[in-house]
Amino acid sequence: MADATFKILRFDPDSGKGPYFQAFRVPLENKGLTVLDGLNHILENIDGSLAFRSSCRAAVCGSCAMHINGKHRLACNTQVSSLNTQSITIRPLAHLEVEKDLCVNMDQFWEKYELVRPYLVPGSPPPEKERIQSQEDREELNVVIDCIQCGCCYSACPVTLSSKEYLGPAALLKIDRFVSDSRDGAHVQRIEQADGPYGVWRCHNVFACQCCPKELDPPRSIAHVKRRLMRRRLLGGGK
Ligand code: FES
Repeated sequence: MADATFKILRFDPDSGKGPYFQAFRVPLENKGLTVLDGLNHILENIDGSLAFRSSCRAAVCGSCAMHINGKHRLACNTQVSSLNTQSITIRPLAHLEVEKDLCVNMDQFWEKYELVRPYLVPGSPPPEKERIQSQEDREELNVVIDCIQCGCCYSACPVTLSSKEYLGPAALLKIDRFVSDSRDGAHVQRIEQADGPYGVWRCHNVFACQCCPKELDPPRSIAHVKRRLMRRRLLGGGK
């Protein structure tokens, strides 16, 4: 059975030591072995002090986002065989404080996310049964609805590093998600928020956030919101 080498950037702020790479041999037990399987193998069999997050193992919870062989990926849906090499280099998400090894502090990501009210704000009293949406209106959401809050786009964005107040790609995508929702009643407040000093105009169009493991497209959403704002300025009022 062949082995893969997992080279992991390790760091424990309490140790007094700086960050360093440590290599581990992981047996390639089956063709479908994922990077998360490999990390679990290391944790259970080689070094119980390795820190990383995971939960669903199904690309749903977003907790296993990390930088794997030069790209932002989810460890649970990245098969080692898909990397076309048996040498795997893993780092924590960039631009975020490392708590230990591959675990980063996501507080600033969640603070921005909460600021944009990432939930439906209904514009009318509750109906007797449900808020009906036409099929066409629902299809509008297909390209913005699958965010799992993994933080990959936030970590990839150079502006989030230089401007701590910038809302960042995930929160701006969420604004687009709700201004595209026919049931939401806070369109005006949402795009006014996006028009603020730390909203869409702070984006430098670097496109680094086009790294979503769920194949969402934050630059498209940012451009979409900018178009709405321009239309609003030219035509006045509305959403
Ligand atoms: S463990 Fe949930 S997304 Fe990977």
